[in-house]
Order: sequence, then C-alpha cells, then structure tokens
Amino acid sequence: MKLDEVPRLSLGFLPTPIEKLERLSAELGIDLSVKRDDFTGFGGGGNKVRKLEYLMADAVSQGVKVLITTGGHQSNHARMTAAAARKFGMKPILVLRGNRPDVLQGNLLLDHLLGAEIDFLDPDAYFTEINPRMQHHADQALARNEKPYIIPLGGASALGAMGYVSAVRELAVQYAEADRPAPDLIVAPVGSGGTLAGLLIGCAMFWPETKVAGIAVSGSAVPFEERIAVMANAGAELLGFDRHFEATEIRIENGYVGQAYSVPSPEGNAAISKVAQVEGMFLDPVYTGKAVAGLMDCVKRGTIAQGSKVLFVHCGGSPALFPHAELLTRDRNA
Ligand SMILES: Cc1ncc(COP(=O)(O)O)c(C=O)c1O
Repeated sequence: MKLDEVPRLSLGFLPTPIEKLERLSAELGIDLSVKRDDFTGFGGGGNKVRKLEYLMADAVSQGVKVLITTGGHQSNHARMTAAAARKFGMKPILVLRGNRPDVLQGNLLLDHLLGAEIDFLDPDAYFTEINPRMQHHADQALARNEKPYIIPLGGASALGAMGYVSAVRELAVQYAEADRPAPDLIVAPVGSGGTLAGLLIGCAMFWPETKVAGIAVSGSAVPFEERIAVMANAGAELLGFDRHFEATEIRIENGYVGQAYSVPSPEGNAAISKVAQVEGMFLDPVYTGKAVAGLMDCVKRGTIAQGSKVLFVHCGGSPALFPHAELLTRDRNA
C-alpha cells in the first residue's frame, strides 16, 4: 500500500512551521531548527495528532462509539485522543496511571473539560492492570451494544507510525521549497517510540542521507531499539516498503530520563528555562525539556558534531508545565 492509500482523516493544522533557533545555534555551534509539532493544533496540539489522523480513520470506518486509551497522569496522548473521540461523536475513556488528585490540573483539566471518563490506576498496579482494565471497559461497551476501540499506549503501532512517515514527507517538501539542504540529524523525544519509528521509515523513504536519534524520556523493559525496530518493520511492511530495520542501527540516548518517566529532572528544567529565555519557546518537563537537555549534552560531548544541521521535533506537551509550577519556580530561584 502506498502512503497516500493508507486511510487518513484530517485533524491537524498542517503543515506545521519550521523555526530556526539562531541564538541557540550560535551558542551550541550547530545549525538548529525546530519542527513545531506543538502547533499541530487539534485538541491542544502535539505529536499524537499526526498518529490519530490514521488511527481515527480506522476507528471511524468501524463505526466505533467508545474510544479507550491509556497513559500517564499528564498524558498528552490521552488528552488528544479524548478530543479526537469527541470530534467524531465517540465517548472517550482514559485509563491513567496515578491516583485521583485533589485538583485536576494541566492535561487532566483538559480531559475533564472533554468529558472523558477517567479510570485512575494505582501507579504500582498500572503495568500489570493496564490491558485488563482497558479490556474491561471495552467489554462493558460491548455489553451496551457500543462498539469499542482500544488505542495502545502512546498510539504506538504501525498505523500510528504513519503519522511521522508523512511528517518527513511534509518536511522534505518544506525544505525543498525553501531551497534548504536536508538536515544531517533529526532528534525527537522517545516515550512509546511510535514517533521515532515513523521518522525512521520516513527518512529511509524521503531523506535517505538524514540520520535519526531518539532521546529516551522513560525506561523500558524491552530496550527501545528493539521495540522501535519491530514497529518500524511493521510500518514498512504496511507500506510495502522494502527496508528492514535492525535494532543495532537505531540510535537512542538513554542517559536523560532522570529519576523516572514524568518526574522532572534538573537538567530538563534547566533546558526549559534556557530555551524560553534564549528563544522564547516553551518546552515541557516530561518530554521535550529532557530531550533538549539530551541534545545539548550530546553537542557538548561531541556525539552531535559541531556545525551539523540538526532538526528537533517539538512534540508539544506544554499543558504539563502547569502542574509543576511549584517545582519549576523553585528550581529557577535556587
Ligand atoms: C510532548 C510529547 N513528546 C514526545 C512524546 C513521545 O512520543 P512517542 O510516544 O511517539 O515516543 C509524547 C508522547 O506522549 C509527547 O506527548
């Protein structure tokens, strides 16, 4: 199947802009631009909008009435999925990792405004209960004669990855129109890995000279390189694209997670302040702050070469800044 033959619904405000970071580039000694996928727009924006264009096409074609997904407390993916459910007249159910807080802040507030049913799972039980809980909600919907659809954590599937295959095609067109040479390296945060899988396929198809590096923002029981290779191979197969990805060719930087997924790190917080104060651009404490901290450290250590043309994919996430207001202001004043 060709990329244009994979069923897709329009959700995002695309193409998103590319912004050159002139001042940060000069400080780092690289040529740094950002793909502003925090401006995909729909449902507050972020990378998942691109994946949802494909996943929702599948759900809508099946006459789905109840859309179920999962994520962390401040999941951007869950918020955008809930918004997509509403857009197509479905009921959103979110199975979230964490206990119900006293005040719904950030993405949780937006989930609430979207009228999503939220099933809070105890953090310790989450990883064993996540699939049975989502299946439980699907079974209940079926018993009510409402067709359910489960979107996996992060929308990480071969179909979801199509969002970033088409993002690379969009980039290649934008660069060609601006008469710019392709970047040497694309850098993106890695949560579930679907974005990176799509970027790998997309670069192999449209920008064969461009390398891809992911900055992990969480740990992973199965190494990300292996998980992403499986997803990228499934995506390539879906497209009938003759390319096999080996785990060993996938570059993941694992040193920037900090204490744990979704726990802000001092380096990530410093990157948030730095980019805001040098470029007027907002990052987030769960994904992009840690990813930019990683990118800057790779430049410092020389694993991203001086003078190279780097494109960072800003995947969104700014709603998660607000629940961390106290910590972020404390760190800055320290
Ligand atoms: C802001 C932001 N950045 C990065 C990611 C990671 O993307 P992926 O799950 O495709 O690895 C997410 C996922 O939820 C996100 O919300």
